[in-house]
Amino acid sequence: MASQQPVSIGKVVLDRNPDKFLTRSVHDLLSLKGRTIVITGGGRGLGLAFGFAVAEVGGNLAIIDLLDQPHDHFRKLETEFGVKVKLYRSDVANHATLTATFDEIVKDFGRIDGLVTAAGICPDEPFMRRAPESVARCMNINVLGTYYAAQLAAAQMAKQEPTDFNPRGGSIVFIASIAAHVASKGQTTSDYCASKGAVVSLAKALGVELAAFGIRVNSISPGYMLTDMTIDLCDRYPWLADIMMNEPPMRRIGDRSDLKVPVVYLLSDASAYHTSDDILITGGIHAGRLM
Ligand SMILES: NC(=O)c1ccc[n+]([C@@H]2O[C@H](COP(=O)([O-])OP(=O)(O)OC[C@H]3O[C@@H](n4cnc5c(N)ncnc54)[C@H](O)[C@@H]3O)[C@@H](O)[C@H]2O)c1
Repeated sequence: MASQQPVSIGKVVLDRNPDKFLTRSVHDLLSLKGRTIVITGGGRGLGLAFGFAVAEVGGNLAIIDLLDQPHDHFRKLETEFGVKVKLYRSDVANHATLTATFDEIVKDFGRIDGLVTAAGICPDEPFMRRAPESVARCMNINVLGTYYAAQLAAAQMAKQEPTDFNPRGGSIVFIASIAAHVASKGQTTSDYCASKGAVVSLAKALGVELAAFGIRVNSISPGYMLTDMTIDLCDRYPWLADIMMNEPPMRRIGDRSDLKVPVVYLLSDASAYHTSDDILITGGIHAGRLM
C-alpha cells in the first residue's frame, strides 16, 4: 500500500491517513502537556499519586478535596513540575457546592480535558447493622459524587473550543474497585461493594452516551493499594494486613506507582479508541485468591 493514501472500500473511506502510527510516538501519545485534569479526592491517597502522574507528563491540575489540609507531598506537587496546580476545598456529594467549584476551575484554567474521580469512602460494618444515614453517605460520596463530577466535567468538555493539544472532548476515569467484582475477604463492606459496582456500570453507560461528544469514559478497579485509607482499615481490623499482603496471587499489596501509568494512559491520546471499559489492577485477585 502506498504511504499516506486514504484507504477506501467501495464508497466507504476507512481512514484518510492510515500511516499516523509512523509519526505518533508512544511518548507523544502519553503526553498531557497543556491539558487541564481535574482530580477529586486528590488531597491524599491514590488521587494524590495520580496528581504526580499527570504533572510528570505535563498536565495542569485542579484538585478537589474535602480535607482542610492536603498531605505534605502536595507541596512538592505544587512546586516541582512547572505545571499549574490548584487545590479546591469542596464536597463531591453536594451538587451545589461542586457546581460552584467546577465554575471556579473553568474560570481559573479556561478548560477541562480530563477528570479522575478518586474521592471515596469505605465504611466497614455488618450489613445487618447498617444505619440508613451511613449507607446513604457512602452512596452519596462514591456514586453520586462520581456522577455529579462526570456530569459537570462533560458539560465543559462538550462545549469548549478545540486546541492543538486536544481537538475535541476529553477523558473521564472513575476509580472503582475490585470490590465491584468480588466480595472483600475479612471485611463487611456491602454498601461500598454496591457503590463501586454502580461506578463500573456508570462508566460503561457514559462511554456509549458521551462518545458522540468525543468524551471517553473508563474505570479502573484497583485491588488492595497502600494508602491512608487501607492503613486506617488495617489499624481498625489488624487481620486485614495479612489478607492484603498474602491474598493477591502476586503476594503483595499494591503500590500507588502501579496505577500511575494506567491513569495517564486512560487520560491521554494513547487510549483514544478505549472507552466503556473497566481495567482490573489487582495483583491477580480477580482471577483467584491464595488464601
Ligand atoms: N486504597 C485502596 O486499596 C483502594 C482500592 C480500590 C479502590 N480504592 C478507591 O480509590 C479511591 C481513593 O482511595 P484512597 O485509598 O486513596 O482513600 P483516601 O481516604 O486515602 O483518599 C480519599 C480522598 O477522598 C477525599 N474525599 C472523601 N470524601 C470526599 C468528598 N465528599 N468530597 C471530596 N473529597 C472527598 C478524602 O478527603 C481523601 O483525601 C476511593 O474511591 C477508594 O474507594 C482504593
